[in-house]
Amino acid sequence: MSHESTRVVIDLDLPLSRISRHLYGHFAEHLGRCIYGGFFVGEDSDIPNEAGIRLDVVDALRELKIPNLRWPGGCFADDYHWRDGIGPVGERPRMVNSHWGDIVEDNSFGTHEFMQLCEMLGADAYVNGNVGSGTVREMSEWIEYLTRADDSPMAALRRANGRDEPWKVPFFGIGNEAWGCGGNMRAEAYTDLARQYATYVRDHGDNTVYRIAAGANTDDYRWTASLMKGLGCLGGCPGESSTPYQALSLHYYTMTGPWDSKGSATDFTDDEWYVALSRAFRIEELLTRHSTVMDGYDPDKRVGLVLDEWGTWWDVEEGTNPGFLYQQNTLRDALVASVHFDSFHRHSDRLVMANIAQTVNVLQAMLLTDPDTGALVKTPTFHVFEMNTGHHDAGALAAHVVGSESRHVDGRDLPLLSASASTKDGSALISLSNLDSSSARTVVLDLRGGDLGEVSARILTADDTAAHNTPQDPDRIAPVAHDGVRPHPRGLEVDLPAHSYVTVSVAIS
Ligand code: AHR
Repeated sequence: MSHESTRVVIDLDLPLSRISRHLYGHFAEHLGRCIYGGFFVGEDSDIPNEAGIRLDVVDALRELKIPNLRWPGGCFADDYHWRDGIGPVGERPRMVNSHWGDIVEDNSFGTHEFMQLCEMLGADAYVNGNVGSGTVREMSEWIEYLTRADDSPMAALRRANGRDEPWKVPFFGIGNEAWGCGGNMRAEAYTDLARQYATYVRDHGDNTVYRIAAGANTDDYRWTASLMKGLGCLGGCPGESSTPYQALSLHYYTMTGPWDSKGSATDFTDDEWYVALSRAFRIEELLTRHSTVMDGYDPDKRVGLVLDEWGTWWDVEEGTNPGFLYQQNTLRDALVASVHFDSFHRHSDRLVMANIAQTVNVLQAMLLTDPDTGALVKTPTFHVFEMNTGHHDAGALAAHVVGSESRHVDGRDLPLLSASASTKDGSALISLSNLDSSSARTVVLDLRGGDLGEVSARILTADDTAAHNTPQDPDRIAPVAHDGVRPHPRGLEVDLPAHSYVTVSVAIS
């Protein structure tokens, strides 16, 4: 069955806000095999590495033009004491990673290793500090250690540990999930602490820090309101030159069941396909409403919203440690990601960063590594990130979907076509997701305000909605050129097979 009446209307000459490349950010926690075995194998490993950091992982993430990496947590961040992760590796104290598997962490991956990883990736560092069990002094000294150039005590300590030049740390998190694992605080109590801690995360030399307060869970709009209220007159009071924190975070995960039965990553029904996509589409409602709350305090959008944890959360793969959150990743995850990105583009006036959880071997990962052979697999989600690199720092274009069917599922109407577009360097990139598990559709791109030049398209799909990649079949699902695009009096006509993700790139003049 095809649906010829569906149109996507795009004004090519009316770019709106800039889609920050940081909306394509990542998150790496000391959790399961994300750091150890994922990013870091140690210098003595047979897996090619530089200073213990896997080169294949770095190369793959560079393909995504990874803009930033958040570390060390997550819940782990509020248990982490950074001084345990510096100095000679053999002398570093151990700790218990009580959130994730109750295992002993040897701190062999610490500040220097993380900053070296960021340098190898060409990514900005987003360091998440400890409010829950840390001190103001500890947080203050960490940023001094990282970014100060002179002979201050922390700069001298860094030098003694082998790093002369300060690093750049553009992003710093003031705790994590303070309403939960980060201290079980009330919104008002945390708001005061966020102001206090952020005050001591100082700009040293020419390093300017963007401080991100630990924000709301899902639809906790009261939490967002409290943090906005905590900003008082937004740096405009006498004696204030800036706000104590410049952004607030938000966390939202896509699941199809309750915590004790979240559903399998690979073995799901058609209904569960739609429930997952409907819950992914809920991000639109959450970004709209959190932004609206923020608008009430900050109509000029000076304060940023940072979705620094998002993605699918399924039951762990059979036989793996339940505390390690290792899950497979299918075409369904890919479309969960593409639906999120469409929404991110629409909200790029307020949403300044987003970080998928988590980069390697944990939750909705880009990369999976085999614990026995070390083999690296790119997931379908990786491919969506790669297909969307053209949206980085592009101007968002409104993409009005006209005549698309929707399906009522999980209490909301899920449009079966999701779309977004952007423009950069004389071309437009249009993203189209056909969320229909069984029907193809043909969509007209009604492109106004520009003459069309060369067109190319790529498609990510598979015969099966649960298709995924494994070390034995690493390219079962990977993007290929799409020839289902034709000129149309209104612009272009695009064939979208069932359960597919397509990007169309058009030169415009
Ligand atoms: O990403 C896994 C965990 O989810 C993070 O540690 C925590 O912040 C969230 O609850």
